[in-house]
This record gives sequence, C-alpha cells and structure tokens, in this order.
Amino acid sequence: MTEMQQKILFSEEAIHQKVQEIAAAISQRYPEGEIVLVGILKGAFVFTADLARAIDRPCRIDFVRISSYGSGTESSGKLNITLDVTLDIADKHVILVDDIVDTGLTIADYKKVLEQRGPKTLEICALIDKTGRREKAVDIDYSGFQIEDGFVVGYGLDCDEQYRNLRCVSVLE
Ligand code: PRP
Repeated sequence: MTEMQQKILFSEEAIHQKVQEIAAAISQRYPEGEIVLVGILKGAFVFTADLARAIDRPCRIDFVRISSYGSGTESSGKLNITLDVTLDIADKHVILVDDIVDTGLTIADYKKVLEQRGPKTLEICALIDKTGRREKAVDIDYSGFQIEDGFVVGYGLDCDEQYRNLRCVSVLE
C-alpha cells in the first residue's frame, strides 16, 4: 500500500469550539429533563465523550456498534448491528451521535430501528457531514463540519483501525 500523507483539516481547537457550540445548542433545545446520548462505535467514542461533558443537562449514555464499511475505504452499504442499545429509550429524548455521516446508510437505517422503540424525540448529531457520496437523505439536527469528499481520520475516525487517537481531524492523501 502506498504511504499516505496526513493533512490537518480541523484542528484540536476548532473541534473543541465546535463541540462547545453543538453542546450549547443541545442544552438550549432541551431546557428540562434528561437526554439519552447514543454514540455509534467505534468512531463516535471521542466525540460522544466530549459532547456529553459539554452538555449542561443530565444525560444517560449508551453506545451501539454498527458497521457499514469493510476494511477498505469504500462503503459496502450494509447495516450490521453487533451491539444494540441497552437502555430503555421509550418516551426519552434521544440523540444519536456519530462522528461522520457519509452515504447516510448507517444512520438512516439505524434511526428507523430506534424509532420503533417509541422515543419522545429522536435527533441526529454528527461531527462531520460528508455530503459528496450521500445515498440516503439524512436530516442532521446538529452538525459540526461539512465536507464534500476526502478520507478523513482522527478524533475517533480510522483508516484500517489507525489514527483514531489523533486530536485533530486530518485528511489522508
Ligand atoms: C463509519 C462512521 C459512521 C459510518 C458512516 O463507521 O463512524 O458510523 O461509517 O458511513 P455511512 O454514512 O456511509 O453509512 P464504520 O462503519 O467505519 O465503523 P467505525 O466507526 O468502527 O470506524
């Protein structure tokens, strides 16, 4: 495999600022009561942790494991739920948290699964809205950054399980 170069796309500071803005918007949108954050592993583990700590509301936190990619960089478009929500989300304010929405298949399909469980509200929060390859329309209620294309890594995002621990988001070239 050819060695890939990393170019910083979103700095640690820019991400921090964006997380604070999203958290403030969420805290304002839900003036009372508890919020259930459902992070999609593995990629959203960093974003979910930072977002949860920036939200000024009582939160319950859960994680799900859903895969739609193979080990390469192309989406297979197949939803495979290997770890589902364990909290009861019926009648709860739920926010599905993902690091990136790409084709939209993962989050659009999983949102339908959660809707069957009767949440009071169900919103989507994604750090990165990558629009160039969208196959299913996704209404992203809170999005941090929008990009057209590019293979991005860091802040939870990987390439073949590498780079998840980068503090910034970089694009591989
Ligand atoms: C990535 C990312 C999103 C999903 C987006 O996860 O974290 O969950 O793909 O892709 P889509 O919009 O085209 O469906 P991935 O399946 O790579 O697993 P990971 O989070 O464990 O890296």
